[in-house]
Amino acid sequence: MITFYPDIKLVHIGAALTSGTLFALRGLGLSLGMRWPRVAPLRYLSYTVDTVLLTAAMMLLTILPAGVFANGWLIVKVGFILAYVVLGVLAFQPARARLSRVALYAAALLCFLQVYGIARAHHPMGLLALLG
Ligand code: HEM
Repeated sequence: MITFYPDIKLVHIGAALTSGTLFALRGLGLSLGMRWPRVAPLRYLSYTVDTVLLTAAMMLLTILPAGVFANGWLIVKVGFILAYVVLGVLAFQPARARLSRVALYAAALLCFLQVYGIARAHHPMGLLALLG
């Protein structure tokens, strides 16, 4: 399996960037009061990309030795992913006031950036560790 590690990681990174871009664009559209972000093909595209992202993540997990996660970066990353998913779901709820949806969307985007930074830095501080 280790032979395929670089390819699986590439799929994971590609899916992560696509997933984040789709979320950012759909959230922006909803914040501006547009309807296209809710159309079924876009929603199904998001589900598909997220399934690829998580499948590749599980494959990476089974290949890597546990020592790679020694400083706890993966646990913190999963925590921010959970926050990102919850905030994202709340941000897309049509019943909420627009201002509250925009605030939730902005918070979800910050969580996504932190997930990305943690993954890149292999450090629980994520982007802050990269800056420092
Ligand atoms: C929003 C969701 C996610 C994003 C944005 C994301 C982002 C990334 C990025 C950018 C990398 C490459 C890091 C590098 O250059 O070394 C990476 C690697 C990795 N991710 Fe994710 N990821 C996400 C979800 C997950 C999940 C849910 C898991 C597992 C619980 C996971 C496990 C891993 C593992 C094991 C690696 C390999 C690290 C290495 O090769 O050293 N990721 N992720």
